[in-house]
Amino acid sequence: MLVGPSGSGKSTWAAARYRQQEVVSSDALRAVVGSGENDLDASADAFALLHQIVTGRVRRGLTVVVDTLGLDPDLRDRLREQGRAAGLPCVAVLFETPEALCRQRNATRDRPVPARVLGQQVAAFARAVEAVPGEGWDEVHTVREDAGVPAPSPAQVP
Ligand code: CTP
Ligand code: MG
Repeated sequence: MLVGPSGSGKSTWAAARYRQQEVVSSDALRAVVGSGENDLDASADAFALLHQIVTGRVRRGLTVVVDTLGLDPDLRDRLREQGRAAGLPCVAVLFETPEALCRQRNATRDRPVPARVLGQQVAAFARAVEAVPGEGWDEVHTVREDAGVPAPSPAQVP
């Protein structure tokens, strides 16, 4: 379960470490069932698919990296309990990317998240950082990225 505001580097991190089929992304699924990654009207359909994909992979004991904002505690609980019920290790990865870097990256994107929305995500992330360690994950990892400092190589991420 990836957890971090928009622009914190979640999708980039996942793409560098996992096969495409191991990553289930709500943004990518919005583009599949809607007009694009930012088609918020397609969220319900995208999340229905996300749950179907997670269910199928978890049932088979396959790795699944859930690439959403991860900021909704109910979604985290639901997915963790699903993994737990299947006997899989459940891992949360927190992206503690500086807000300024998230904003800078966001600004260069085709369809930037509005500044106010990013602010709400940053606030929700601060709550998640407090909550996640007590939620019952088998492991909680923190990825810290700063401008100019490359993300850790896969070998450094347990
Ligand atoms: N990026 C970068 N260097 C990194 C990580 C990300 O330059 N170490 C850039 C990416 O190329 C991308 C932007 O920052 O243009 C946002 O990264 P992304 O991985 O897409 O962030 P997410 O957390 O996945 O954002 P979202 O929640 O909006 O999907
Ligand atoms: Mg992403």
